[in-house]
Amino acid sequence: MEIKKICVLGAGLMGNGITQVCAQAGYEVAMRDIEQRFIDGGMSSIRKNLARDVEKAKRTQADMDAILGRIKPMLDLKAAAADADLIVEVVIEVMDIKKKVYEELEKIVKPECLFFTNTSGLSITELAAVTSRPAKFIGTHFFNPVPVMKLLEIIRGYETSDETLEIAKEWGKSIGKEVIVVNEAPAFAVNRVLCVMLNEAFYVLGEGIAGPEDIDKGMVLGCNHPIGPLGLSDLVGLETLLRVVEGLHKELGDKYRPAPLLVKLVRAGRYGRKTGKGVYDYTAKK
Ligand code: CAA
Repeated sequence: MEIKKICVLGAGLMGNGITQVCAQAGYEVAMRDIEQRFIDGGMSSIRKNLARDVEKAKRTQADMDAILGRIKPMLDLKAAAADADLIVEVVIEVMDIKKKVYEELEKIVKPECLFFTNTSGLSITELAAVTSRPAKFIGTHFFNPVPVMKLLEIIRGYETSDETLEIAKEWGKSIGKEVIVVNEAPAFAVNRVLCVMLNEAFYVLGEGIAGPEDIDKGMVLGCNHPIGPLGLSDLVGLETLLRVVEGLHKELGDKYRPAPLLVKLVRAGRYGRKTGKGVYDYTAKK
């Protein structure tokens, strides 16, 4: 099956990144969100990223214009999804909301349309089960910032067919990603390992063992990580991190008990870079 038209559902942090890499690879992409301000935000990020590449002479202005020309920002779900060969769903990490989106999509899309879900940890099998096409359903977990991070983690649900897996792998390579394939398990492979460290960093901070800068500096200089765990949590989004950790806690027990400080920061609306404040304050840098 040839993929030409892609519909990305969600224009947020991950959605606009996925839209960008797909359009860069030559696909026609409809990027859909539920409010104009989300679409405007997504398009502005894509423009900023591409303009930075032009400034650095990594691509030409003509190339940038052609990429933008392949992106159709949309509010209307039907118009965005009806002729898509592939839906990449990047809706908020709440099982019931994602399920509702698939129920709506079922009434709109072509019978052969594939469903790829970007989730940090929700069950692919459970999501696929609300559709009439669980064999055509697979998890494609991207990493933030999508245009920079090389990895695509592909997760097979219980009913995912070999054909869908092969198409997903080829598609991943076509958009410039290195692919790993994992079996379904809570938070898959990467986040299962990563979230222990990120959550633990909030315990270390909350217990007053070290300040945020020193915890981050320690992991950057002591372990060669490109960014410290608290800075990375701000990049990922604290509310997203908390949702994944809560899911892991539910499925795998106490090892993943959310750090009280992480919970408190989310309650305070400090979601990280996207809201201007998380562990760190970014408002002065804007
Ligand atoms: N979009 C596009 N490009 C970006 C970008 C963004 N948001 N942020 C940075 N870049 C580019 C820069 O333009 C720069 O490009 P050049 O090399 O061509 O100049 C390059 O990335 C490096 O950027 P900077 O020099 O500004 O800053 P840096 O060296 O500190 O790198 C970083 C920034 C790439 C984010 C780096 O800190 C990093 O790799 N951090 C780790 C990121 C990570 O671990 N992500 C996974 C998170 S987990 C996840 O996403 C899964 C989940 O489900 C929770």
